Order: sequence, then structure tokens, then C-alpha cells
Amino acid sequence: MKKLRQKNIHNLLKETEDRFRKINIALPRLDAEVLLSFYLKKNRSTLYTNSEYIPTDKEMREYGNGVARRLRGEPVAYITGKKEFWSLDLEINDKVLIPRPETEILVEQVLKLVKKWKLINGRILEIGTGSGAISIALASELERARFFAMDISIDAVKIAKRNAGRNGVEKLVSFVCGNLFEPFSEKFDFIISNPPYISEKEFQYLPVEVRNFEPEEALLAGPKGIEFHRELVKKGADYLKKKGWLVMEIGYGQSHAVERMLKETQKYDLIRFRTDYAGIKRVVEAQRSG
Ligand SMILES: C[S@@+](CC[C@H](N)C(=O)[O-])C[C@H]1O[C@@H](n2cnc3c(N)ncnc32)[C@H](O)[C@@H]1O
Repeated sequence: MKKLRQKNIHNLLKETEDRFRKINIALPRLDAEVLLSFYLKKNRSTLYTNSEYIPTDKEMREYGNGVARRLRGEPVAYITGKKEFWSLDLEINDKVLIPRPETEILVEQVLKLVKKWKLINGRILEIGTGSGAISIALASELERARFFAMDISIDAVKIAKRNAGRNGVEKLVSFVCGNLFEPFSEKFDFIISNPPYISEKEFQYLPVEVRNFEPEEALLAGPKGIEFHRELVKKGADYLKKKGWLVMEIGYGQSHAVERMLKETQKYDLIRFRTDYAGIKRVVEAQRSG
């Protein structure tokens, strides 16, 4: 990569945006702004009020390294080590999936169910917590609930714990490392999960920045993509209280298969789907029969 030359913020952003656009980065301007504000330790809005500022040699060097990493495909969240989710500031590294905006729909849906079914003191189990995004977002809204958040990756559990601490909810969430339901023997009001849901075939077609940088075990489910949902549906029924809720994120085109598996167990009622901002069925909820 040709080295970025020292220039004012306005021109630096323009040049970075052009370089990012040339390699088809989806949001070139946003990525340039997030990176520059990170290395200048300023808010994004300050880039506009201080657009004539010329970064120091050190700032230029660091920013140049960040831009080079982004040009090689690395996601911005791994470069900055941060990601916002539910307006919370989360620490992120390449051991955890970068929380996606559509996962906020799962959070919204759980909050709606808690309110409707008066479960504010509920016990909530999250399978596959990653950075802790979902449980921490919910805990920030539900201070009387008790959360149990687990992951098979010890590195993920460590990050999730730190994220709970930095967002002030560490007393509400217990983090555990293990395989699916193995660490648990009690029953819950909610089992929630954004499980791995990419099939082996789809995996090959993922954008480079996902396939080469995000942890495979957070993405890949198996030959069909719904293998984790099947486990959650089957085993989850034994871990849900009567009238408790299973709420899961699903991938594009998986709603029929997931609905079928829920019905086949004959252990769930009130099966409903919620769509995301693109109109794709993204979250499924189902109530454990009484
Ligand atoms: C799609 S990521 C979701 C992460 C986070 N909840 C989010 O929404 O950003 C799935 C998570 O499931 C975890 N996982 C994979 N297999 C698992 C298993 N057998 N038991 C528990 N967690 C598992 C992965 O390590 C990963 O953190």
C-alpha cells in the first residue's frame, strides 16, 4: 500500500474513503471516520469541527497501520478493539464474533416478552454468549432478572466478564464455560441464543472479512446450518420452566426448518418469528407448553 501522506483531517478522510471504496468496503466513509477518531482519541463529530487539524507523526503512523489492516480485510471492530451494541461500549477481539445490529432485535423481543408475561424476576440462560453482548444489554434493562451466560470458548467468557464489568452489570450475570447445557441442571424462564448458523456451503461464500477474521466456531454450524438450533430446541425443552420461552436468532431462509423442528417436538406453543430491518425472519420465539 502506498503510504498515507500527512495532511489535514478533511483530506485524510477523503483519501482513506477513496482507497476503501476501491476495494468495495461496504461503508468506506464510516470506517475511515471510526479509525481516524480512534487513533486521534476524539469523537467522530470532532473530526468535522477540527477538520483543519494535521495529525502528528505518531498519530499518522498509527492511523496508517490501522488503514493498512482494514485494506487487508480486517474488520474495524478488531482493529479498534471496540464495538457499540445496544448503546453499550463492548471490548472485542478476534476470539469473539463482532455483535451485529440485527441481534438487537433478539434483545428487543426478549424485553417485550418479559413485559408481557411479567417475568421481570426471571432466570435467563444465554447459550453462546461470545462478547456477552446480548446478556449484558438485557441486564442493563432488567436489574431484577438473573442471567447465566455461557460459551464453549474460555477466551469469549473472559471478554464477556470484562464487558459486564465495564458496563456495571457484573453482579447480575454469571458466566460459565462449557458445552451447550452441560454446566446446568436447573430450569429457566428464558433460554436465549444467537447460535452459529452458517452452513458449510455458505461458509465458503462469506465475505473475506468475516471468513478470514471472525472465529469459525462462532459462525459454522454444520452441513445444514441449523444443527445448533436443533440442539437448542430438543435439549432446551428440558431446561425451560413450563410457559418459559426459547428465543433464538436464525439465518436467512431457516425459518421453515426451524418451525418444523419446534412443532415436531410437540413441546412448544405460540411459535412466532420477527423480521429484521431487511424484512428477513431473524428471530424465533416459542413458549414451552404448560
Ligand atoms: C454467533 S456467535 C454469538 C455470539 C454473541 N452471542 C453475539 O450475538 O454476538 C455464537 C457463539 O456460540 C459459541 N459456541 C459455539 N459452539 C458452542 C457450544 N457447543 N456450546 C456453547 N457455546 C458455543 C461460540 O463460541 C460463539 O461465541
